[in-house]
Amino acid sequence: MNPCAIVLNQSFHCSRSHTIVECSPLVLTKLHAWAKDKPNVRIIEGTWQERLSELGKFDCIFFDDYPGSGSITVGEIENSKDPRYAPIYMASGSHFHAFVCLCLEFHLKIDSRLTGYLEQEFSISRKDCTLTNRRIPVRPPPHCNYFIEKTAVVPLLTKIDPDDVREKTEEHIEADNVDSVQQNDKETKVQDEEEEEEEEQEVSVSSKELEKRREAESDDAREAKLAMKEAAHWLMTENRRARKKPRRLQ
Ligand SMILES: C[S@@+](CC[C@H](N)C(=O)[O-])C[C@H]1O[C@@H](n2cnc3c(N)ncnc32)[C@H](O)[C@@H]1O
Repeated sequence: MNPCAIVLNQSFHCSRSHTIVECSPLVLTKLHAWAKDKPNVRIIEGTWQERLSELGKFDCIFFDDYPGSGSITVGEIENSKDPRYAPIYMASGSHFHAFVCLCLEFHLKIDSRLTGYLEQEFSISRKDCTLTNRRIPVRPPPHCNYFIEKTAVVPLLTKIDPDDVREKTEEHIEADNVDSVQQNDKETKVQDEEEEEEEEQEVSVSSKELEKRREAESDDAREAKLAMKEAAHWLMTENRRARKKPRRLQ
């Protein structure tokens, strides 16, 4: 792995660029020697707190700045050239959390990812990213004085557009509404057809019944009763239809 604090991968049109931020003079000497034959490697000298605001947006960010000696203090963020960085850093619950918030705010595009090594599972409550924590087995060398665990937590954050999620959800709700109205229409149509069939049967039964009675009744009385029955039947059918009209969702 590269001797670096942050590896920032950036795509410029078709060629990829690797940006490395490093503050230790000793490490920087080795880093420059290593990067000599790597034209796509860009070395940024200084602390990330000081230089990050100059660096733009990235596709991937790997964060591993454990300082060891503890020489870099919390106040380092005051050296940022952008006055918006310090308040965000100070308001965060941890160093890693602070870095994540700054990157989500200024250095990640939609679908860009950020990762690092941690001892504990990471959590964050923001609508503009997704997060998974994976535990991976590690074998730190004996001289490593800052990581003694046998497993490391690798959090993976992906920046998302919270409005996109809302829009998609709204589209799905709208599609669901249209589906349910269409389903409602279909069901109502089937019910209407079934009822019409039943009513036709009722009408034909009524007609037979009437036929028998017709013989016993006078022509005038028979026609008057028939007209009344037909009117009552029509009224009943219309009432049923009105009750069955599908309700549109708002
Ligand atoms: C844990 S080492 C990185 C190890 C490297 N990722 C690897 O796996 O080999 C941390 C590096 O970050 C550098 N560093 C620590 N704090 C930094 C800061 N605030 N800004 C830039 N570099 C920092 C240290 O000098 C050191 O080279």
